[in-house]
Amino acid sequence: MGDFTAMLSLPLLLSLAALCFYPSTISSMPPPRFSPKSKYAPRFLGKPSRSNYSAPTYQYDTRYFDQNLDHFSFSNLPKFRQRYLINTDHWAGPSRAAPILFYCGNEGDIEWFAANTGFVWEIAPRFRAMIVFPEEEAYRNTSTLAHLTAEQAIADFAVLITELKRNMSAQDCPVVLFGGSYGGMLASWMRLKYPHIAIGALAASAPILQFEDLVPPETFYQIVSDDFKSESFSCFNTIKNSWDVIEAEGQKKNGLSFLSETFRFCKKLKSTAALSDWLYSAYSYLAMADYPYPADFLMPMPGNPIKEVCRRIDNCPDGTSILQQIFEGVSVYYNYTGTVDCFDLDDDPHGMDGWNWQACTEMVMPMATSKYSMFPEYSYNYTSYEEWCLGDYHVKPRPNWITTEFGGHGFKHALKTFGSNIIFSNGLLDPWSGGSVLEDISESIVAIFTKEGAHHLDLRPSTAEDPDWLVEQRATEIKIIRSWLDEYLERKRAVLDM
Ligand SMILES: *[C@@H]1O[C@H](CO)[C@@H](O)[C@H](O)[C@H]1NC(C)=O
Ligand SMILES: *[C@@H]1O[C@H](CO)[C@@H](O)[C@H](O)[C@H]1NC(C)=O
Ligand SMILES: *[C@@H]1O[C@H](CO)[C@@H](O)[C@H](O)[C@H]1NC(C)=O
Ligand SMILES: *[C@@H]1O[C@H](CO)[C@@H](O)[C@H](O)[C@H]1NC(C)=O
Ligand SMILES: *[C@@H]1O[C@H](CO)[C@@H](O)[C@H](O)[C@H]1NC(C)=O
Repeated sequence: MGDFTAMLSLPLLLSLAALCFYPSTISSMPPPRFSPKSKYAPRFLGKPSRSNYSAPTYQYDTRYFDQNLDHFSFSNLPKFRQRYLINTDHWAGPSRAAPILFYCGNEGDIEWFAANTGFVWEIAPRFRAMIVFPEEEAYRNTSTLAHLTAEQAIADFAVLITELKRNMSAQDCPVVLFGGSYGGMLASWMRLKYPHIAIGALAASAPILQFEDLVPPETFYQIVSDDFKSESFSCFNTIKNSWDVIEAEGQKKNGLSFLSETFRFCKKLKSTAALSDWLYSAYSYLAMADYPYPADFLMPMPGNPIKEVCRRIDNCPDGTSILQQIFEGVSVYYNYTGTVDCFDLDDDPHGMDGWNWQACTEMVMPMATSKYSMFPEYSYNYTSYEEWCLGDYHVKPRPNWITTEFGGHGFKHALKTFGSNIIFSNGLLDPWSGGSVLEDISESIVAIFTKEGAHHLDLRPSTAEDPDWLVEQRATEIKIIRSWLDEYLERKRAVLDM
């Protein structure tokens, strides 16, 4: 148990935390240390997959805008070039006060997010709207990492929107914000902080309550576990029992070589923690992307991928070792296309891990696992989290900053009193849904969730295979957005008539 605890820890946390992206990392065995470097930690949305199968392509112009690196000081910093994608094909223009649909870019390549956010492209014609997808540019450059914060990001958006509207004489055009995962958090926070700039926000799978003790730290991994358990109890148990087997194997002479061969890694594992990390990552992403139809969001996967993982685990012939069963199961995640020769643990050693940086500064999302989960039990330990951040980034996290800046305890009451026009949408299979808003807060701050949905499924392009509940969810969202726009236009007209 103790050893496992060590394994899980920080990285996990961090990773998980990575909002849009990957789940956590688990670290090494004794002595307890964490190797947060893993790229496999759960983050929010997820890393773009390397394949491009099925990603729709949309038409847009790519433009650049000289953006302030730091909106909150007057020191003489260079500007950075913020990339944004724009489409005005359907826009009815300033004379009609036609809307601007603005996607709050997550950390990562904006073209990938644009391709995966079909909802916005599909609704633009009916709203005769302009579409803008800005990138969070600080993300791409180590020297600007220190400026990679939620406050800077939404200030970037505010400045970009203001200048873009001025350039296009579109000051009267209402802006509606969209975002998923971390981007969903940004969308909801931006609506709260800049109500004069955007009239409303659709915040999909935005875990704005995953901070401090607002929700139990076990929430994320409990939902992952429940997704597996509800598919198959024996599958859940096999996974739950596998950790001890992995550890025991790792203790043996040549154990790591054996594990490396069993799991077909290209290079020999350095620790069982690296393997656990890789598995945590797969289970977490499988839960996030447990979509009802085949998708290529994080990795190409079949529809209902957890069902498929469990089918493979449960259907192994009698006598199959537990390690082999686990291998068969996670192959659904890592090798669904059957094109992988061997698995690489460190796929991008030079890539910058913007999310981990954020997790070590303001995005401190406590993560733990309980004995009711399918993971080894692990308690959240802020001290070791901080040590990890100091060691890796030489930075000390500010675990209370986000709730101070955007609200924490009492947040719902404050929102009810001072906020309006936000949709918090969620799919309950998504482990991030546990840290999101699942109840209506007021008449115009509403929660829309689907029992069988996963990570911001509603923002994805519609498909012929969409189940009715998803079609309905999107229709409800469109209706609400329409009501915000109607109300805005009525108010405008009332002012003009006076
Ligand atoms: C990915 O895109 C490239 C270039 O558009 C295309 O040639 C290739 O066939 C695509 N791959 C898949 C798997 O669709
Ligand atoms: C990173 O940002 C610095 C400062 O703005 C700039 O001088 C440098 O060229 C950037 N590097 C890359 C790779 O964009
Ligand atoms: C607005 O116009 C100016 C002058 O043409 C240009 O430099 C700037 O990049 C434009 N801003 C945006 C947000 O497009
Ligand atoms: C991936 O799947 C293919 C097809 O089933 C298989 O031949 C290959 O060995 C698998 N790769 C790994 C690393 O397991
Ligand atoms: C938390 O982590 C710190 C630093 O690694 C360690 O000294 C401490 O014993 C841990 N606390 C618990 C309760 O495990």
